[in-house]
Amino acid sequence: MSTNLRVAILLAGSGLIWLVGNAVSEAADASVGERLWRQAGIEDPEKGGIRHCATCHGQDLRQPGQHIQTGKQIDPMAYSMASNRYGDAEKTEKWFLRNCKWTFGRACSESEKADLLTYLKSL
Ligand code: HEC
Repeated sequence: MSTNLRVAILLAGSGLIWLVGNAVSEAADASVGERLWRQAGIEDPEKGGIRHCATCHGQDLRQPGQHIQTGKQIDPMAYSMASNRYGDAEKTEKWFLRNCKWTFGRACSESEKADLLTYLKSL
């Protein structure tokens, strides 16, 4: 293979990665994530009404939250306050699954999770 051809393939490849990367980051929308974060979940009369993400994470995401069932403190969700957050994809996925199910009664979709993450990381 000629060097020129190799360079051309390499450039085309990185262009494609750039395009895909852009499409993904443009698709995730912090304002959509914020709306979902504030969206009413399922009814839970025993725990004082309607479930929300804020039920445990609190209203101010720069402050610690408190688990509604265990009473345990939860570190702030705002990325600016807890930079150890969202670095472990397995952990993030595990909690997304558990918390979306508990709050909304269903798992969140891939695009909902991307929007939520974009929102939380923007804080
Ligand atoms: C019943 C309590 C509770 C509710 C309600 C709740 N969470 Fe959580 N969440 C937790 C706990 C506990 C953790 C794990 C402790 C930690 O990461 O500090 C956690 C962690 C997370 C994480 C992992 C963060 C990381 O560091 O990777 C994400 C993402 C998350 N929650 C999103 C949500 C979303 C979205 C909602 C609403 C749909 C929600 N949570 C509602 C209790 C809750």
